[in-house]
Amino acid sequence: MNLKWIIVLIGLYALCSCTEGTQIKAPTPFIFVPPIHFGDGFELPEDNSFTIEGIALGRNLFYEKMLSRNHQVSCGSCHQQSKAFTDGAKFSTGVDKLLTSKSSMSLVNLFWQSKFFWDGRALSLEEQALEPIQDHIEMDLSLVEAVERLSNSDLYRQQFQQAFESDEITPELIAKALSQFIRTLVSSNSRYDQYLLGEDVLSDQEKLGMDLFFTHPEPTIGLRGGNCGDCHLNILTSGDRTSYRGFHNNGIDTEEDLENGLMTVTGEATDKGKFKAPSLRNIALTAPYMHDGRFATLEDVLEHYNENVRTSATLDVLITDATNNPKNVLPVKLGLTDTEKKAIIAFLHTLTDQKFISDEAFSDPFED
Ligand code: HEC
Ligand code: HEC
Repeated sequence: MNLKWIIVLIGLYALCSCTEGTQIKAPTPFIFVPPIHFGDGFELPEDNSFTIEGIALGRNLFYEKMLSRNHQVSCGSCHQQSKAFTDGAKFSTGVDKLLTSKSSMSLVNLFWQSKFFWDGRALSLEEQALEPIQDHIEMDLSLVEAVERLSNSDLYRQQFQQAFESDEITPELIAKALSQFIRTLVSSNSRYDQYLLGEDVLSDQEKLGMDLFFTHPEPTIGLRGGNCGDCHLNILTSGDRTSYRGFHNNGIDTEEDLENGLMTVTGEATDKGKFKAPSLRNIALTAPYMHDGRFATLEDVLEHYNENVRTSATLDVLITDATNNPKNVLPVKLGLTDTEKKAIIAFLHTLTDQKFISDEAFSDPFED
Protein backbone atom coordinates (compact mmCIF):
# COMPACT_ATOMS: atom_id res chain seq x y z
CA MET A 1 0.00 0.00 0.00
CA ASN A 2 1.51 3.34 -0.95
CA LEU A 3 1.71 6.37 1.31
CA LYS A 4 -1.17 8.16 -0.41
CA TRP A 5 -3.58 5.36 0.48
CA ILE A 6 -2.36 5.19 4.06
CA ILE A 7 -3.11 8.91 4.47
CA VAL A 8 -6.58 8.45 2.94
CA LEU A 9 -7.30 5.58 5.31
CA ILE A 10 -6.16 7.53 8.37
CA GLY A 11 -8.33 10.40 7.16
CA LEU A 12 -11.38 8.14 6.81
CA TYR A 13 -10.78 6.68 10.27
CA ALA A 14 -10.51 10.14 11.78
CA LEU A 15 -13.69 11.22 10.03
CA CYS A 16 -15.62 8.18 11.33
CA SER A 17 -14.53 8.54 14.95
CA CYS A 18 -15.20 12.23 14.75
CA THR A 19 -18.77 11.85 13.46
CA GLU A 20 -19.33 9.17 16.08
CA GLY A 21 -18.25 11.72 18.73
CA THR A 22 -20.57 14.40 17.38
CA GLN A 23 -23.65 12.32 18.04
CA ILE A 24 -23.50 14.00 21.44
CA LYS A 25 -22.52 17.50 20.40
CA ALA A 26 -20.75 19.58 23.02
CA PRO A 27 -22.80 22.64 24.06
CA THR A 28 -22.01 25.86 22.19
CA PRO A 29 -20.32 28.52 24.32
CA PHE A 30 -22.31 31.76 24.58
CA ILE A 31 -20.10 34.80 24.24
CA PHE A 32 -21.50 37.40 26.64
CA VAL A 33 -20.93 40.96 25.48
CA PRO A 34 -21.67 43.40 28.34
CA PRO A 35 -23.01 46.84 27.42
CA ILE A 36 -19.95 49.09 27.09
CA HIS A 37 -21.10 51.53 29.77
CA PHE A 38 -21.83 48.84 32.41
CA GLY A 39 -18.32 47.76 33.29
CA ASP A 40 -17.15 44.26 34.05
CA GLY A 41 -18.34 43.88 37.64
CA PHE A 42 -19.98 40.55 36.90
CA GLU A 43 -18.66 37.11 37.63
CA LEU A 44 -19.70 33.84 36.04
CA PRO A 45 -19.39 30.93 38.47
CA GLU A 46 -16.59 28.62 37.35
CA ASP A 47 -18.87 25.60 37.34
CA ASN A 48 -21.68 27.14 35.30
CA SER A 49 -20.38 28.44 32.00
CA PHE A 50 -22.75 30.18 29.62
CA THR A 51 -23.94 28.06 26.69
CA ILE A 52 -26.57 28.62 24.01
CA GLU A 53 -28.24 25.32 24.96
CA GLY A 54 -28.13 26.09 28.70
CA ILE A 55 -29.80 29.47 28.19
CA ALA A 56 -32.50 27.97 25.93
CA LEU A 57 -33.21 25.30 28.54
CA GLY A 58 -33.31 27.91 31.32
CA ARG A 59 -35.83 29.95 29.34
CA ASN A 60 -38.10 26.90 28.97
CA LEU A 61 -37.81 26.07 32.67
CA PHE A 62 -38.58 29.70 33.59
CA TYR A 63 -41.92 29.45 31.81
CA GLU A 64 -42.57 25.78 32.73
CA LYS A 65 -45.78 25.37 34.76
CA MET A 66 -45.00 21.69 35.39
CA LEU A 67 -42.55 23.00 38.01
CA SER A 68 -45.46 23.87 40.30
CA ARG A 69 -47.51 21.33 42.24
CA ASN A 70 -50.78 22.13 40.45
CA HIS A 71 -49.20 22.75 37.01
CA GLN A 72 -50.51 26.32 37.02
CA VAL A 73 -47.66 28.55 38.17
CA SER A 74 -44.29 29.20 36.55
CA CYS A 75 -41.55 31.68 37.41
CA GLY A 76 -43.04 33.73 34.58
CA SER A 77 -46.40 34.02 36.41
CA CYS A 78 -44.89 36.39 38.99
CA HIS A 79 -42.09 37.71 36.79
CA GLN A 80 -43.78 38.94 33.58
CA GLN A 81 -41.70 40.40 30.78
CA SER A 82 -44.18 43.19 29.96
CA LYS A 83 -43.77 44.46 33.55
CA ALA A 84 -39.97 44.17 33.56
CA PHE A 85 -40.39 40.78 35.24
CA THR A 86 -42.62 41.86 38.12
CA ASP A 87 -46.36 41.16 38.21
CA GLY A 88 -48.09 44.43 39.01
CA ALA A 89 -49.48 43.13 42.30
CA LYS A 90 -48.85 44.14 45.89
CA PHE A 91 -48.32 40.46 46.71
CA SER A 92 -48.00 37.63 44.19
CA THR A 93 -50.36 34.72 43.68
CA GLY A 94 -48.80 31.26 43.97
CA VAL A 95 -50.35 27.77 43.96
CA ASP A 96 -53.95 27.47 45.22
CA LYS A 97 -54.23 31.27 44.96
CA LEU A 98 -52.10 31.74 48.08
CA LEU A 99 -50.40 35.13 48.41
CA THR A 100 -46.68 35.71 49.00
CA SER A 101 -45.64 37.86 51.97
CA LYS A 102 -43.43 40.11 49.83
CA SER A 103 -43.89 41.94 46.55
CA SER A 104 -42.35 40.40 43.43
CA MET A 105 -38.99 41.82 42.29
CA SER A 106 -37.91 42.92 38.83
CA LEU A 107 -35.34 40.54 37.32
CA VAL A 108 -32.91 42.85 35.61
CA ASN A 109 -29.13 43.13 35.35
CA LEU A 110 -28.77 40.58 38.14
CA PHE A 111 -25.52 39.36 36.57
CA TRP A 112 -23.89 42.36 38.27
CA GLN A 113 -25.25 41.44 41.70
CA SER A 114 -24.51 38.90 44.37
CA LYS A 115 -27.26 39.27 47.02
CA PHE A 116 -30.77 38.22 46.13
CA PHE A 117 -34.25 38.69 47.62
CA TRP A 118 -35.41 41.73 49.58
CA ASP A 119 -33.44 40.56 52.63
CA GLY A 120 -30.40 39.33 50.66
CA ARG A 121 -30.67 35.73 51.89
CA ALA A 122 -29.46 34.08 48.65
CA LEU A 123 -25.81 34.58 47.71
CA SER A 124 -26.00 33.29 44.15
CA LEU A 125 -28.62 32.92 41.46
CA GLU A 126 -28.00 29.17 41.54
CA GLU A 127 -28.87 29.17 45.25
CA GLN A 128 -31.89 31.41 44.68
CA ALA A 129 -33.41 29.43 41.79
CA LEU A 130 -34.57 26.37 43.74
CA GLU A 131 -36.27 28.33 46.51
CA PRO A 132 -39.46 29.39 44.66
CA ILE A 133 -39.99 25.86 43.30
CA GLN A 134 -40.10 24.40 46.82
CA ASP A 135 -41.75 27.38 48.54
CA HIS A 136 -45.17 26.22 49.79
CA ILE A 137 -46.89 29.41 48.69
CA GLU A 138 -45.11 30.01 45.38
CA MET A 139 -44.78 26.69 43.48
CA ASP A 140 -44.83 24.05 46.24
CA LEU A 141 -43.06 21.22 44.42
CA SER A 142 -40.40 18.98 45.97
CA LEU A 143 -37.15 18.76 44.04
CA VAL A 144 -37.56 14.98 43.78
CA GLU A 145 -40.92 15.49 42.07
CA ALA A 146 -39.52 18.29 39.87
CA VAL A 147 -36.74 15.99 38.64
CA GLU A 148 -39.21 13.17 38.06
CA ARG A 149 -41.60 15.31 36.03
CA LEU A 150 -38.83 16.70 33.83
CA SER A 151 -37.25 13.25 33.39
CA ASN A 152 -40.56 11.96 32.02
CA SER A 153 -40.42 14.51 29.23
CA ASP A 154 -38.56 13.66 26.01
CA LEU A 155 -38.03 17.35 25.34
CA TYR A 156 -36.32 18.02 28.67
CA ARG A 157 -34.26 14.79 28.66
CA GLN A 158 -32.91 15.88 25.31
CA GLN A 159 -32.40 19.51 26.36
CA PHE A 160 -30.49 18.60 29.55
CA GLN A 161 -28.37 16.22 27.49
CA GLN A 162 -27.56 18.99 25.01
CA ALA A 163 -26.93 21.67 27.64
CA PHE A 164 -24.96 19.69 30.21
CA GLU A 165 -24.01 16.43 28.42
CA SER A 166 -25.78 14.59 31.21
CA ASP A 167 -28.25 11.71 31.00
CA GLU A 168 -29.45 12.55 34.46
CA ILE A 169 -31.56 15.58 35.38
CA THR A 170 -30.66 16.94 38.83
CA PRO A 171 -31.81 19.92 40.95
CA GLU A 172 -28.34 21.38 40.55
CA LEU A 173 -28.65 21.38 36.76
CA ILE A 174 -32.14 22.90 36.94
CA ALA A 175 -30.69 25.74 39.02
CA LYS A 176 -27.77 26.19 36.64
CA ALA A 177 -29.97 26.47 33.56
CA LEU A 178 -32.38 28.92 35.23
CA SER A 179 -29.45 31.06 36.37
CA GLN A 180 -27.96 31.15 32.89
CA PHE A 181 -31.23 32.47 31.50
CA ILE A 182 -31.62 35.06 34.25
CA ARG A 183 -28.07 36.32 33.63
CA THR A 184 -29.06 37.14 30.05
CA LEU A 185 -31.84 39.50 31.25
CA VAL A 186 -29.83 42.65 30.60
CA SER A 187 -31.56 45.99 30.23
CA SER A 188 -29.25 48.62 28.72
CA ASN A 189 -31.33 50.43 26.17
CA SER A 190 -33.43 52.96 28.04
CA ARG A 191 -33.41 56.62 26.98
CA TYR A 192 -31.07 57.26 29.90
CA ASP A 193 -28.59 54.74 28.46
CA GLN A 194 -28.90 56.38 25.07
CA TYR A 195 -28.27 59.75 26.70
CA LEU A 196 -25.14 58.41 28.43
CA LEU A 197 -23.89 57.04 25.12
CA GLY A 198 -24.54 60.39 23.42
CA GLU A 199 -27.30 58.93 21.24
CA ASP A 200 -30.26 60.83 22.67
CA VAL A 201 -30.95 64.04 24.57
CA LEU A 202 -32.99 64.53 27.72
CA SER A 203 -35.52 67.34 28.11
CA ASP A 204 -34.75 70.16 30.55
CA GLN A 205 -37.17 68.64 33.06
CA GLU A 206 -35.58 65.17 32.78
CA LYS A 207 -32.09 66.69 33.15
CA LEU A 208 -33.15 68.60 36.25
CA GLY A 209 -34.55 65.33 37.62
CA MET A 210 -31.31 63.50 36.85
CA ASP A 211 -29.21 66.15 38.59
CA LEU A 212 -31.45 66.10 41.65
CA PHE A 213 -31.49 62.28 41.66
CA PHE A 214 -27.70 62.08 41.90
CA THR A 215 -27.09 65.06 44.20
CA HIS A 216 -26.83 64.98 48.00
CA PRO A 217 -28.18 68.38 49.10
CA GLU A 218 -25.90 70.98 50.71
CA PRO A 219 -28.23 73.84 51.71
CA THR A 220 -25.38 75.91 53.15
CA ILE A 221 -23.98 76.37 49.65
CA GLY A 222 -27.36 76.35 47.90
CA LEU A 223 -26.86 72.91 46.33
CA ARG A 224 -30.25 71.24 45.91
CA GLY A 225 -30.59 67.48 45.74
CA GLY A 226 -32.99 64.55 45.96
CA ASN A 227 -30.41 62.21 47.42
CA CYS A 228 -31.61 59.15 45.54
CA GLY A 229 -28.28 58.17 43.95
CA ASP A 230 -26.77 57.80 47.43
CA CYS A 231 -28.47 54.40 47.61
CA HIS A 232 -29.72 53.64 44.10
CA LEU A 233 -26.22 53.55 42.75
CA ASN A 234 -24.61 54.21 39.39
CA ILE A 235 -25.71 53.25 35.93
CA LEU A 236 -27.07 49.90 37.03
CA THR A 237 -28.96 51.57 39.85
CA SER A 238 -28.36 48.47 41.91
CA GLY A 239 -26.51 47.27 44.97
CA ASP A 240 -22.99 46.17 45.61
CA ARG A 241 -21.33 42.81 44.90
CA THR A 242 -19.00 42.53 47.80
CA SER A 243 -20.91 43.66 50.89
CA TYR A 244 -24.38 44.40 52.19
CA ARG A 245 -23.71 48.06 51.39
CA GLY A 246 -26.69 48.08 49.05
CA PHE A 247 -29.08 47.40 51.96
CA HIS A 248 -30.72 50.27 53.83
CA ASN A 249 -33.55 51.30 56.10
CA ASN A 250 -35.24 53.96 53.97
CA GLY A 251 -37.67 55.08 56.65
CA ILE A 252 -40.95 53.55 55.55
CA ASP A 253 -41.73 52.29 59.08
CA THR A 254 -41.48 53.48 62.66
CA GLU A 255 -39.47 51.46 65.18
CA GLU A 256 -42.52 49.41 66.31
CA ASP A 257 -43.50 48.39 62.78
CA LEU A 258 -39.99 47.71 61.53
CA GLU A 259 -39.60 44.26 59.93
CA ASN A 260 -36.37 42.33 60.41
CA GLY A 261 -35.13 42.57 56.81
CA LEU A 262 -31.38 42.02 56.53
CA MET A 263 -31.23 41.19 60.26
CA THR A 264 -32.84 37.83 59.42
CA VAL A 265 -29.68 37.02 57.48
CA THR A 266 -26.89 38.62 59.53
CA GLY A 267 -28.42 38.39 63.02
CA GLU A 268 -27.20 41.95 63.70
CA ALA A 269 -29.61 44.37 65.41
CA THR A 270 -28.01 47.18 63.38
CA ASP A 271 -29.43 45.53 60.24
CA LYS A 272 -33.04 45.61 61.40
CA GLY A 273 -35.39 47.14 58.83
CA LYS A 274 -32.77 47.15 56.07
CA PHE A 275 -33.81 45.92 52.64
CA LYS A 276 -32.15 45.64 49.28
CA ALA A 277 -32.23 48.96 47.42
CA PRO A 278 -33.48 47.51 44.15
CA SER A 279 -32.70 48.54 40.64
CA LEU A 280 -34.79 51.49 39.53
CA ARG A 281 -34.53 50.40 35.92
CA ASN A 282 -37.96 50.18 34.32
CA ILE A 283 -39.37 51.49 37.58
CA ALA A 284 -42.31 53.10 35.77
CA LEU A 285 -43.40 49.55 34.84
CA THR A 286 -42.99 47.82 38.20
CA ALA A 287 -45.60 49.36 40.52
CA PRO A 288 -46.60 48.88 43.27
CA TYR A 289 -43.45 49.78 45.17
CA MET A 290 -41.36 48.63 48.16
CA HIS A 291 -40.94 45.11 49.57
CA ASP A 292 -44.60 45.06 50.60
CA GLY A 293 -45.95 46.95 47.60
CA ARG A 294 -47.33 49.66 49.87
CA PHE A 295 -46.99 52.58 47.41
CA ALA A 296 -49.16 52.50 44.30
CA THR A 297 -47.45 55.28 42.35
CA LEU A 298 -44.11 57.04 41.95
CA GLU A 299 -45.81 60.18 43.27
CA ASP A 300 -46.48 58.26 46.52
CA VAL A 301 -42.82 57.21 46.64
CA LEU A 302 -41.59 60.81 46.26
CA GLU A 303 -44.10 61.93 48.86
CA HIS A 304 -42.60 59.35 51.22
CA TYR A 305 -38.98 60.46 50.79
CA ASN A 306 -39.90 64.14 50.85
CA GLU A 307 -42.55 64.31 53.58
CA ASN A 308 -43.16 61.06 55.40
CA VAL A 309 -39.88 59.45 56.44
CA ARG A 310 -40.39 57.58 59.74
CA THR A 311 -37.73 57.62 62.39
CA SER A 312 -36.16 54.47 63.86
CA ALA A 313 -32.80 53.44 65.29
CA THR A 314 -31.46 52.09 62.00
CA LEU A 315 -32.85 54.81 59.71
CA ASP A 316 -30.12 55.50 57.19
CA VAL A 317 -27.83 58.41 57.91
CA LEU A 318 -27.91 59.28 54.21
CA ILE A 319 -31.56 60.15 54.80
CA THR A 320 -31.27 61.82 58.22
CA ASP A 321 -28.45 63.95 56.77
CA ALA A 322 -30.32 65.09 53.73
CA THR A 323 -32.30 68.30 53.61
CA ASN A 324 -32.70 71.18 51.22
CA ASN A 325 -33.86 73.40 54.07
CA PRO A 326 -31.10 75.76 55.27
CA LYS A 327 -32.90 76.29 58.61
CA ASN A 328 -32.28 72.66 59.60
CA VAL A 329 -35.64 72.13 61.27
CA LEU A 330 -36.08 68.79 63.07
CA PRO A 331 -37.14 66.18 62.16
CA VAL A 332 -35.16 66.52 58.95
CA LYS A 333 -37.27 66.74 55.82
CA LEU A 334 -35.89 66.56 52.30
CA GLY A 335 -37.79 69.68 51.29
CA LEU A 336 -38.07 69.31 47.52
CA THR A 337 -40.55 71.54 45.68
CA ASP A 338 -43.42 70.09 43.63
CA THR A 339 -41.55 71.00 40.44
CA GLU A 340 -38.47 69.14 41.66
CA LYS A 341 -40.46 66.04 42.63
CA LYS A 342 -42.08 66.00 39.19
CA ALA A 343 -38.66 66.36 37.56
CA ILE A 344 -37.31 63.33 39.44
CA ILE A 345 -40.33 61.30 38.32
CA ALA A 346 -39.76 62.45 34.73
CA PHE A 347 -36.15 61.24 35.04
CA LEU A 348 -37.31 57.88 36.43
CA HIS A 349 -39.41 57.43 33.29
CA THR A 350 -36.25 57.69 31.15
CA LEU A 351 -35.12 54.39 32.77
CA THR A 352 -37.80 52.47 30.87
CA ASP A 353 -36.33 50.09 28.31
CA GLN A 354 -38.88 49.14 25.63
CA LYS A 355 -36.43 46.81 23.92
CA PHE A 356 -35.99 44.81 27.13
CA ILE A 357 -39.70 44.21 27.58
CA SER A 358 -40.24 43.23 23.96
CA ASP A 359 -37.05 41.22 23.32
CA GLU A 360 -38.14 37.84 21.96
CA ALA A 361 -35.18 36.09 23.54
CA PHE A 362 -36.81 36.66 26.95
CA SER A 363 -40.41 35.83 26.01
CA ASP A 364 -42.47 32.75 26.80
CA PRO A 365 -41.30 30.05 24.35
CA PHE A 366 -44.52 28.07 24.83
CA GLU A 367 -46.56 30.94 23.39
CA ASP A 368 -44.57 31.28 20.15
C1 HEC B 1 -45.69 33.20 43.35
C2 HEC B 1 -44.83 34.22 42.79
C3 HEC B 1 -43.41 33.90 42.41
C4 HEC B 1 -42.95 32.82 41.68
C5 HEC B 1 -43.74 31.67 41.12
C6 HEC B 1 -41.53 33.03 41.52
N1 HEC B 1 -41.14 34.20 42.13
FE1 HEC B 1 -39.29 35.00 42.12
N2 HEC B 1 -39.87 36.37 43.49
C7 HEC B 1 -41.16 36.49 43.98
C8 HEC B 1 -41.15 37.34 45.16
C9 HEC B 1 -42.37 37.69 46.00
C10 HEC B 1 -39.80 37.72 45.37
C11 HEC B 1 -39.26 38.49 46.56
C12 HEC B 1 -39.21 37.45 47.69
C13 HEC B 1 -38.42 37.82 48.91
O1 HEC B 1 -37.60 38.72 48.87
O2 HEC B 1 -38.61 37.15 49.94
C14 HEC B 1 -39.03 37.11 44.28
C15 HEC B 1 -37.66 37.29 44.11
C16 HEC B 1 -36.93 36.69 43.08
C17 HEC B 1 -35.54 36.95 42.79
C18 HEC B 1 -34.62 37.94 43.51
C19 HEC B 1 -34.37 39.19 42.70
C20 HEC B 1 -33.45 40.19 43.37
O3 HEC B 1 -33.28 41.30 42.84
O4 HEC B 1 -32.88 39.90 44.44
C21 HEC B 1 -35.19 36.14 41.73
C22 HEC B 1 -33.84 36.06 41.04
C23 HEC B 1 -36.36 35.35 41.39
N3 HEC B 1 -37.40 35.74 42.22
C24 HEC B 1 -36.40 34.37 40.42
C25 HEC B 1 -37.44 33.44 40.32
C26 HEC B 1 -37.33 32.18 39.61
C27 HEC B 1 -36.11 31.69 38.85
C28 HEC B 1 -38.54 31.55 39.75
C29 HEC B 1 -38.93 30.19 39.26
C30 HEC B 1 -38.13 29.06 39.63
C31 HEC B 1 -39.37 32.42 40.55
N4 HEC B 1 -38.67 33.55 40.89
C32 HEC B 1 -40.70 32.16 40.87
C33 HEC B 1 -42.29 35.90 43.46
C34 HEC B 1 -42.26 34.73 42.70
C1 HEC C 1 -30.88 55.50 52.32
C2 HEC C 1 -31.00 54.86 51.07
C3 HEC C 1 -32.05 55.30 50.08
C4 HEC C 1 -32.27 56.58 49.59
C5 HEC C 1 -31.56 57.86 49.97
C6 HEC C 1 -33.32 56.44 48.61
N1 HEC C 1 -33.73 55.14 48.53
FE1 HEC C 1 -35.21 54.42 47.37
N2 HEC C 1 -35.07 52.61 48.27
C7 HEC C 1 -34.14 52.26 49.21
C8 HEC C 1 -34.44 50.94 49.74
C9 HEC C 1 -33.65 50.19 50.79
C10 HEC C 1 -35.60 50.52 49.07
C11 HEC C 1 -36.38 49.23 49.33
C12 HEC C 1 -37.10 49.41 50.64
C13 HEC C 1 -38.18 48.41 50.95
O1 HEC C 1 -38.73 47.82 50.04
O2 HEC C 1 -38.50 48.24 52.13
C14 HEC C 1 -35.96 51.59 48.16
C15 HEC C 1 -37.04 51.53 47.30
C16 HEC C 1 -37.33 52.51 46.34
C17 HEC C 1 -38.34 52.38 45.34
C18 HEC C 1 -39.23 51.15 45.13
C19 HEC C 1 -38.50 50.08 44.35
C20 HEC C 1 -39.32 48.87 44.08
O3 HEC C 1 -38.89 48.07 43.23
O4 HEC C 1 -40.36 48.67 44.68
C21 HEC C 1 -38.31 53.52 44.58
C22 HEC C 1 -39.18 53.84 43.39
C23 HEC C 1 -37.29 54.37 45.16
N3 HEC C 1 -36.72 53.73 46.22
C24 HEC C 1 -36.95 55.62 44.68
C25 HEC C 1 -36.11 56.50 45.35
C26 HEC C 1 -35.99 57.89 45.02
C27 HEC C 1 -36.71 58.58 43.88
C28 HEC C 1 -35.13 58.43 45.92
C29 HEC C 1 -34.73 59.87 46.07
C30 HEC C 1 -35.80 60.81 46.30
C31 HEC C 1 -34.70 57.36 46.82
N4 HEC C 1 -35.32 56.20 46.42
C32 HEC C 1 -33.82 57.51 47.87
C33 HEC C 1 -33.08 53.05 49.64
C34 HEC C 1 -32.99 54.42 49.41
